[in-house]
Amino acid sequence: YEGQGQGVWRYADALPLEEGVTTQEGATPLYEVPRLEEDIGVEALRIKHEGMNPTGSFKDRGMTVGVAVAKELGVGRLACASTGNTSAALAAYGSRGGMETLVLLPAGKVAAGKIAQASLHGARILEVDGNFDACLDIVQELAQQGEAYLLNSLNPFRLEGQKTIGLEILEGFLADYDTVPDRIVLPVGNAGNTSALYKAFRELVQVGSLEEDEVPKLTGVQAEGAAPMVEAVENGADEVRRWEDVETRATAIRIGNPVNAPKALPGIRETGGTAISVSDEEITDAQRDLAGEGIGVEPASAASVAGLRKLRAEGIVDDDERVACLTTGHLLKDPDAAAAAGAEPEPVPAETDGILEHLSE
Ligand code: F0G
Repeated sequence: YEGQGQGVWRYADALPLEEGVTTQEGATPLYEVPRLEEDIGVEALRIKHEGMNPTGSFKDRGMTVGVAVAKELGVGRLACASTGNTSAALAAYGSRGGMETLVLLPAGKVAAGKIAQASLHGARILEVDGNFDACLDIVQELAQQGEAYLLNSLNPFRLEGQKTIGLEILEGFLADYDTVPDRIVLPVGNAGNTSALYKAFRELVQVGSLEEDEVPKLTGVQAEGAAPMVEAVENGADEVRRWEDVETRATAIRIGNPVNAPKALPGIRETGGTAISVSDEEITDAQRDLAGEGIGVEPASAASVAGLRKLRAEGIVDDDERVACLTTGHLLKDPDAAAAAGAEPEPVPAETDGILEHLSE
């Protein structure tokens, strides 16, 4: 791709529009993590850190396209249900596009940074007495009744923008290793990214830019308390059973009804990938592992690394694989989770000798 635009818009040839409502999203880092690579025991490991987007998550890639489409359609009000990141991105891109935004959030289950973003960018925030899946049911009804334009990942234009994650990963691996990755491991909530990456790779195969057997194995990771996709993959089911009760510290992926499952399940199966669930403790450990390499992510993001470690330990991932892990959101999205996982601040007196004494203890 040698498009005129930057970031996501460098891939305009693969997108439904030539330009979007933009704050320069995309072109995120593909970090080397040598210690983690050796510790987990794979040939190569890279971290595609989507937390480095303007609002701190991959949602910006979808919103730059989706909000531009909404603007072109001339719709009045944009809306989404959200575990937090979608609402932050919709609020930011909606205000950049000069449009009104409405977000439905599960009360008490959204991380502080995300609500702060939606609030300051001027979204109308409805705190719903129910979980994310209930919020999404309601937003779909509002959209059907013509009350709002839906910008969840059910909106296909969002997924068009998110395809560029996959394109950037392939380009990054080709530049550094002269080959595409064997596997991409990603956290799964509504399975939008899983669907978007699969679509991107199928399109590359269709135009002859990628061989069928080169398509990376799409490997999804969910939290144990919210793992309906994992259940479906393990049972070889064609449909996903909705989980009514979900719980995890990784609130971003606290989802029981992955609405993109019909597109994502074939993606996992046909690429030879798999899905696995991890405990909240394993997620926090992986968050610390990444932080130890200088990479700050929110809990849901660390699920990818936790899942890779588990799959490698079980021998499902081989030691000769080149792997990309997707980290979907920034550490500052959930400051409470970060502080709970990290070191305690130590109270000291305001004088050097007292501090030296404290340090020598
Ligand atoms: N990671 C983070 C940080 C997320 O915010 C989300 C989804 C996911 C992973 C899951 O991605 O749906 O493509 O499988 N967050 C949505 C939201 C639901 O409302 O912010 P997916």
